[in-house]
Amino acid sequence: MTGTRPNPNNREVAAYSDLVMEHFQNPRNAGELVEPDGEASKANPVCGDRMRVMIRVDAGRIAEVRWQTRGCPPAIATSSFASEMVQGWTLEDVDSLTRERIADAIGGLPGDKVHCSVLAADVLRAAVADFRRKSGA
Ligand code: FES
Repeated sequence: MTGTRPNPNNREVAAYSDLVMEHFQNPRNAGELVEPDGEASKANPVCGDRMRVMIRVDAGRIAEVRWQTRGCPPAIATSSFASEMVQGWTLEDVDSLTRERIADAIGGLPGDKVHCSVLAADVLRAAVADFRRKSGA
């Protein structure tokens, strides 16, 4: 009878957008930057998953992003997606980045996974704040 039971993992996968699945399976910009201009690390207050972001800034714009995330599929996917999304953004643009904007742009997240996009938004903003602290910008 076990073969007729729905696989909870399959249900979860079916609830994700194509973009979430694509970025989860082929993450972009994962890794580290040597001597980044700004960096930040935070834990998700809901589940404890963790993300670290490192940025390079050129002429007031995001020139490079690398990230390391220990978390669920949507946390990995939104980390990757947001790292591409903010390329070339001004620091002020990143200041206004919200988890809702990331979740909407990636095609939505299931209700119980909406909190997973908070890491990418919060940690990117914190990395910009760290850049400003270090550079006096
Ligand atoms: Fe922790 Fe998704 S369950 S970020």
